[in-house]
Amino acid sequence: MKVLIVGGGGREHAIAASVAKSSRVDKIYCAPGNAGIGTIAECVPIGAMEFDRLVSFAKENEIDFTIIGMDDPLAGGIVDEFEAAGLKVFGPRKNAAILEGSKAFSKDLMKKYDIPTAAYETFDHPNDALSYLEHAKLPIVLKADGLALGKGVLICQTLEEAKAGVKEIMEDKKFGSAGNHMVVEEFMTGREVSVLSFVDGKTIQIMSSAQDHKRAKDGDEGLNTGGMGTFSPSPFYTPEVDAFCREHIYQKTVDAMAAEGREYKGVIFFGLMLTEDGPKVLEYNARFGDPEAQVVLPRMKNDIIDVMEACADGTLDQIELEFEDNAAVCVVLASAGYPVSYEKGFEIKGEENFADKDGYYCFHAGTKLNENGKVVTNGGRVLGITAKGAGLKEARANAYAAAEWISFDNKYMRHDIGKAIDEA
Ligand code: AMP
Ligand code: GLY
Repeated sequence: MKVLIVGGGGREHAIAASVAKSSRVDKIYCAPGNAGIGTIAECVPIGAMEFDRLVSFAKENEIDFTIIGMDDPLAGGIVDEFEAAGLKVFGPRKNAAILEGSKAFSKDLMKKYDIPTAAYETFDHPNDALSYLEHAKLPIVLKADGLALGKGVLICQTLEEAKAGVKEIMEDKKFGSAGNHMVVEEFMTGREVSVLSFVDGKTIQIMSSAQDHKRAKDGDEGLNTGGMGTFSPSPFYTPEVDAFCREHIYQKTVDAMAAEGREYKGVIFFGLMLTEDGPKVLEYNARFGDPEAQVVLPRMKNDIIDVMEACADGTLDQIELEFEDNAAVCVVLASAGYPVSYEKGFEIKGEENFADKDGYYCFHAGTKLNENGKVVTNGGRVLGITAKGAGLKEARANAYAAAEWISFDNKYMRHDIGKAIDEA
């Protein structure tokens, strides 16, 4: 069969690598893809938001199955467009992708269906938010309602910071129209865990857990990024935590969406915080995490096409998800200066070291081929270096060893990805 993947980051490279392992797949296309994806798929120069062109491409090339990797096209209704054209596609429709696309929606859903999350209020006008904040407990969390590349969250220690935050989000529109509405949320403390799942509208199957490192610098200092590295599984995601989440969070979310007439098919990513009062939902995402996919998918034993088709067909109850009994760590190699400003266009060397090594992956995020056919840096997050190991410590040592096989100017990484493991 022929598969089209929509997106062009490290997550889509990890998805493409899993699809390439499927015995059912003859040909993979990726729009727009990147230099690394181009080694296992044919990259098509169509942007992820160009729905008409993507649908035409899928029809003309007789694509059997399309996988949407990114949040923006999902929130924009790409799945509805593909379905209307009679094309089979993996991902939530627009009315379900709102689970990620609107924080106000997801918070209201959790409140209505009694799914544990931080206490909150939503605001449409800055003045209402400001008067609420006068009496709110500090620290406090402000969230722009819409998609903001994972950056629309401000944790404010003082009333002054919170007031400035309201101005940034709702008046200056720092995160664009995402700031037309705002959620103000209780500050929670605890360990964070990412849990990805497959959903077919009714049934939910949980993947192995993971943990991201969102801050740019070692010791969780610096600005929030898209994610600087991950490990899987999380030792903090214990059987007790799993049992609690199965009872109070996962199936309840799927059932709540169905009850609202927003049948959910695709991936639900549960961003959880393990608080003293038990696990609570920090956020939902309507897609694989990036770089969570880079540590979870390489450990999945199932044929990914079987699982994704079952989601689209509503037959996920017939699938048993299986993961390898090992661990993986992903270290992101970024461009110095990310997430603020950074230079691009530097040649990337050393990828040939990965060629004959099982359990090592060099996933491309921001790369491209230059006019001389050389692979060069083309983004803030450049590569995700994933390695497996028998346990987390071994995987971590392997990933950091492999991170040294690669060189490019201005290469930057965190050195403490998975350090929490050593302390566990
Ligand atoms: P989100 O995009 O909602 O996951 O928020 C980004 C990050 O902000 C999360 O990964 C947490 O580290 C932090 N965060 C979000 N909401 C809260 C909260 N209510 N309490 C504490 N930290 C939070
Ligand atoms: N790694 C977090 C995310 O994909 O949103």
